[in-house]
Amino acid sequence: MPPTRFFFEEPAPGFPERKDFCLMLPIVHRSRRFLHAACSSVALLAALCAPALADTSPVALMPRPQSVTLSGQDVAVAGGVRIEWAGRPTPMLQRAAARFSGRLAMLAGAPAAGGAPLVLHISTRPDPAYLSVHEREHYTLNVTSQNGIRLDADGPAGVVHGLATLLQLVVQTPQGPVIHEAAINDAPRFPWRGVMIDVSRHFMSVDTMKRQLDAMELTKLNVLHWHLSDGTGFRVESLRFPRLHQVGGHNQYYTQAQVRDIVAYAADRGIRIVPEFDVPGHTLSILEAYPELAAQHVPSAEERESPCSITINTVKTKAICNKVYNLNNAAFDPTKPQTLKFATELYAEMGRLFPDHYFHSGGDEVSPKQWNDNPAIVAYMKQHGYADAPALQAAFTAQVEHALARQGKIMMGWDEVSEAPIPRDVVVETWRGSKWIASATQAGHPVVVSSGYYLDLLNPSSEHYKVDPYDPKAVGLSPEEATRARAKQGPMIDAFALDPNAQPLTAAQQKLVLGGEAPLWSEIVSDEMVDARLWPRSAAIAERFWSDASVRDVADMEKRLPLIQHELEATGLQASAHENAMIARLTPGNVGPLKVLTSVTSPVRNYAMNRLASHSGDAMLNAPGAIAAPDSFEANRFNDMAARYVAGEKDLAAPLTQMLKLYLANDAGYATVATTPLLQDARPVSQQLAAVARVGLEAIRKHRSHGRHWHRRVNRLLAAQDATFAGCANAVASYTHDQPPSGLLIDILPGLHALVDHAH
Ligand code: ACM
Repeated sequence: MPPTRFFFEEPAPGFPERKDFCLMLPIVHRSRRFLHAACSSVALLAALCAPALADTSPVALMPRPQSVTLSGQDVAVAGGVRIEWAGRPTPMLQRAAARFSGRLAMLAGAPAAGGAPLVLHISTRPDPAYLSVHEREHYTLNVTSQNGIRLDADGPAGVVHGLATLLQLVVQTPQGPVIHEAAINDAPRFPWRGVMIDVSRHFMSVDTMKRQLDAMELTKLNVLHWHLSDGTGFRVESLRFPRLHQVGGHNQYYTQAQVRDIVAYAADRGIRIVPEFDVPGHTLSILEAYPELAAQHVPSAEERESPCSITINTVKTKAICNKVYNLNNAAFDPTKPQTLKFATELYAEMGRLFPDHYFHSGGDEVSPKQWNDNPAIVAYMKQHGYADAPALQAAFTAQVEHALARQGKIMMGWDEVSEAPIPRDVVVETWRGSKWIASATQAGHPVVVSSGYYLDLLNPSSEHYKVDPYDPKAVGLSPEEATRARAKQGPMIDAFALDPNAQPLTAAQQKLVLGGEAPLWSEIVSDEMVDARLWPRSAAIAERFWSDASVRDVADMEKRLPLIQHELEATGLQASAHENAMIARLTPGNVGPLKVLTSVTSPVRNYAMNRLASHSGDAMLNAPGAIAAPDSFEANRFNDMAARYVAGEKDLAAPLTQMLKLYLANDAGYATVATTPLLQDARPVSQQLAAVARVGLEAIRKHRSHGRHWHRRVNRLLAAQDATFAGCANAVASYTHDQPPSGLLIDILPGLHALVDHAH
């Protein structure tokens, strides 16, 4: 699952995603009312919801605490919870308590009138390091029927985490809401547990950002890396350089008051915000406002849209006409003194707005052509002895670091900055491959790992979950992939190649790994889609960053994931609500067929979707591929049931048959609603779903015709689907293979293989 955002040369526009109905049900007693409401909205599916309720409910803690002991007993919580503090709580702690009570009511229902509340005793102490990488996050939580609940935290962060854990112990039972008795001792493995949200490619509203911060609080993520400036838009009001938001903001930016509000909202939730203003590349939106700082001519939006009709001067026109203009490529001219002055002053202003000690200056993907095609820059490089563009970039990076250090900030940058002469305290964020973890820590840099956690690659949670932040061989192009990619992209591809000789990190290197971040680049993520593109996958990744490295049971994680997603949605996340709205918009009046189709499919992976979107533009933000989720709970459930059926649980034949009949019958309905080209693009997948569902039914029926002929036909059918998966299994495959036009993969294949292999 190598990253290589380099691979799509076309400018990649934007897109969305998901939801499940019964699929969450497998296990759930939790908030049955909510789930039943969701199920009954699709009459066809109602039958499926019933058998699922028979399963038992696991305790859905995510991230898994360091140690948990469950007594197996429950404590009734119908009367609500009353909080008693040891000492006087700060206003921040009082607000945390109020959020807890509000969320408890959302999960357990309003406290019954006259019911005796459980008492929650909380003790903590001030932590001068709160909201820093040194903050105290440890807490213990004890729930007993005799003594109520005790939360003892080493600092405010521990209180926030302990309350989040307590909410995950709340379950609905037929007797009413209860809290599991538990003894928990907990602290994180890594102090830096982040998500990165790109609001340049698609702007996300203040409310949308706040919803993500709420979900982060509940999953103990503590850093929002906010990517605020890139080719598509500059998203913060600047008083020093007002043209940045007036011109570069394209009418979508946060006022400084809104930024302060979001920073405070995050701080209340134990979340630091690290802003990123990317330099010297990815600066088109800045250069639209201040073109005098650019290395190359900055085309206007009109020029970019109809590039060949413009005559500016011959050279520039040709350059623009040669291919679609790539919004990512425009770069500063670092040889002009006013460029560094601009960056220094911008960072000073933004550094005051964002109080965090760390400041991300980007530094990724600078296109050498931007500088090599500018004779003045080439002459400067010769004169000053810079061998090539990366050498010039390294010198600029060192100057930027100096400027930030003078402002009291620690610079953070993408792993390209580790090639510059910079002080050891600069934090390197690895993205081109895991080998950069080894090289950066070897050089003494703290590291935040994002290679392996790129959410916009649209891989399921299980893929990210397997990647350990200490593993320098987890992610990178294989030798074969690197050879193929190099032929097309040149030697820059070497930075993405796996290092087969990378040694395991020493203890000293491990100490430098601060944690990780899950980036969500938003070329194909609209505001409406962000909840479902971030969650539930960020919850699984949160567990990787918080829990012990030995917590790695994928099946167990996948069982807990729907419950966590439900908790997040019951307390405000809009993933399902937005998916339902998108479905209703696309197929008004008959939402069932599209709902069923998107419940068992997922989007093509590893930037295959970005390639599709580059041909159809923002239309892909409004298509089935934007609704289908990387984690299909319904398909996971089907696959799990199929595995159990072939292992001997024969009574699962009936619910499996019901599900397969639904998928088989769905195509007729889909044919009637697929009235637009984008919906019609998904018709072949709907037909293939019906075809494989028929095979599943035949396999379960132990059809008389299960001879060699049947197996040959059926295996051909499944092999075609397997090939579709293989066609986007990594960055090189997804770049070189044709993709299904709808960008949908059928996720029930593992279950079908199991059923077919079992049929003799
Ligand atoms: C990156 O994905 N260009 C950091």
